[in-house]
Amino acid sequence: MIVVNTVSALRHALAPHRTGSIGFVPTMGALHQGHLELLRRAGQDNDVVVLSVFVNPAQFNDPADLAAYPRTDAQDRAHAENAGVEIYFAPTVDEVYPTGFSATVSLAGPIVETFEGAHRGSGHFHGVTTVVTKLLMMIRPDRAYFGQKDAQQLRVVQALVADLDIEVQIVDVPTVRESDGLAMSSRNVRLTPDDRSMALGLNQALQTGRAAFELGESAEAIVASAATVLDHYSITAEYLAVVDGADFRQVVDVPSRRAVLVVAALVGRTRLIDNIVLQ
Ligand code: PAJ
Repeated sequence: MIVVNTVSALRHALAPHRTGSIGFVPTMGALHQGHLELLRRAGQDNDVVVLSVFVNPAQFNDPADLAAYPRTDAQDRAHAENAGVEIYFAPTVDEVYPTGFSATVSLAGPIVETFEGAHRGSGHFHGVTTVVTKLLMMIRPDRAYFGQKDAQQLRVVQALVADLDIEVQIVDVPTVRESDGLAMSSRNVRLTPDDRSMALGLNQALQTGRAAFELGESAEAIVASAATVLDHYSITAEYLAVVDGADFRQVVDVPSRRAVLVVAALVGRTRLIDNIVLQ
């Protein structure tokens, strides 16, 4: 595995691989099984796999969240090496955003303004789309891998590459969960044992919501049944809603198109998100 920290070293390392297919997995590190599944998929589909590890300040609305974000570089390198990553790209903040940097790549509309966009602020997705555009320009991969765990981010990235004609295939990977259903997340390490038990309520609520959907219930009834489970776990949701999976507009009647039940909540001091595809 080659470890590079600069764009020029990255390009140099990639040059001999340009004749084959390049798979790219962007992450903010603190690698877990969810990330490793993206890497596994990338390894299956491509001749070479590039992993980026960059905690992107531009997408954090809360400085305390940025400061507390887990950083486990040595461990991440070991995981990456075991996962068969050929190029490990870990740039500094100055490398990505040098003095004088002033570009922003942003989408508009409900897809970036609702749910995560509303709760983390409009700058969140602008930070994501700016850094993802930069990473795609630096690497120019054939395929880039994103998790359904961050369903809205996945849709935002798909819209980004469509709008800007970026020549890359976005591959979505199903959410990897702990055996009890908790979605893997870099933030899970911040959960206390009590938080960890409470966090189970998120997936339980989504499962209950899906059961209501399968009975043909309305969006309102689906949300109400899921909310009962959150209550049982004493979880106050930031949002809990049935959305259209394409544009993240809230569904108010009976979900008919590809609908997704989304939830975000503060569990102890850790903000967690999860979702389940209804159809
Ligand atoms: P990060 O939270 O590190 O996630 C990197 C990728 O791993 C994302 O595509 C995310 O959806 C996926 N992922 C996280 N948990 C997962 C799980 N349990 N199952 C499957 N996939 C999972 O998302 C980001 O970083 C950043 O916003 C980034 C795209 C790197 C831009 O800075």
